[in-house]
Amino acid sequence: MRIEMVEELRARVRRATKVVAFTGAGVSRESGLATFREGKDALWQRYRPEDLASPQAFLRHPETVWRWYGERFRGAASAQPNAAHLALARLAAVFPSYLLVTQNVDGLHQRAGSRGVVELHGTLHDARCHACARRMEMQRALDRSPDTPPRCECGGLYRPAVVWFGEMLPQDAMERAMREAAACDLLLAVGTSATVFPAAGLIELAHRGGAAVIEVNPEATAFSSLADLRLRAAAAAALPALEAEIRGCREGSA
Ligand code: APR
Repeated sequence: MRIEMVEELRARVRRATKVVAFTGAGVSRESGLATFREGKDALWQRYRPEDLASPQAFLRHPETVWRWYGERFRGAASAQPNAAHLALARLAAVFPSYLLVTQNVDGLHQRAGSRGVVELHGTLHDARCHACARRMEMQRALDRSPDTPPRCECGGLYRPAVVWFGEMLPQDAMERAMREAAACDLLLAVGTSATVFPAAGLIELAHRGGAAVIEVNPEATAFSSLADLRLRAAAAAALPALEAEIRGCREGSA
């Protein structure tokens, strides 16, 4: 895939010192993991989020929710990072300041080598007591009790350490992501429909702060109009090409 940036954008990329990469489920699509909202195998096309991804659903039928997340955990654990995850991990070395913020809970960015990943919606790799917030590795919790949520010593039930609909995002993660998005020179929005707030607000925050925005998504989104470059392609194809173009810009500035 060949990427052509206009000179004005090349100059902004060349000068960029603070970069935020903001990702959603689309970046893991080529790792074989389903997205949430588009295509026949999208999770919310097959299930109702209110039946599986909310505190009410968990209290109403904890076993069903626990087993579904066990299935999603096993899917993520057996998936491999793809070329997009790897390119995003390598880009950290290109800029003085680089932060990867993800809505994904699959842990594939970390397995691709990204460090200091901000997980706005938590992680499938940990379980957390619904009552006292004590944590345990998800694998250990599932080994202990594959079909029903294990009970915490406080008496509460363990649940996946992900953010469910109606729950608050981890405050420190969101504040850090907002601060960095508002201050960055370049934001890469990769594989997100940008429909779930407050996470989706990061794109506009970066744009308002004067950042150049590059969107990588086969489809248009509500924030496409804010993008200085729209790469209508799969992330696994676009990111290595974008990485090469970014390096090309910056080598010019060496
Ligand atoms: N490469 C890049 N983007 C892709 C690809 C791909 N191969 N395939 C699909 N996409 C795009 C889709 O066009 C869509 O815009 O990825 C986006 C996925 O959007 P969603 O399924 O809505 O996922 P996401 O934006 O991460 O959802 C945000 O919603 O349900 C909650 O907590 C869940 O974190 C999730 C949040």
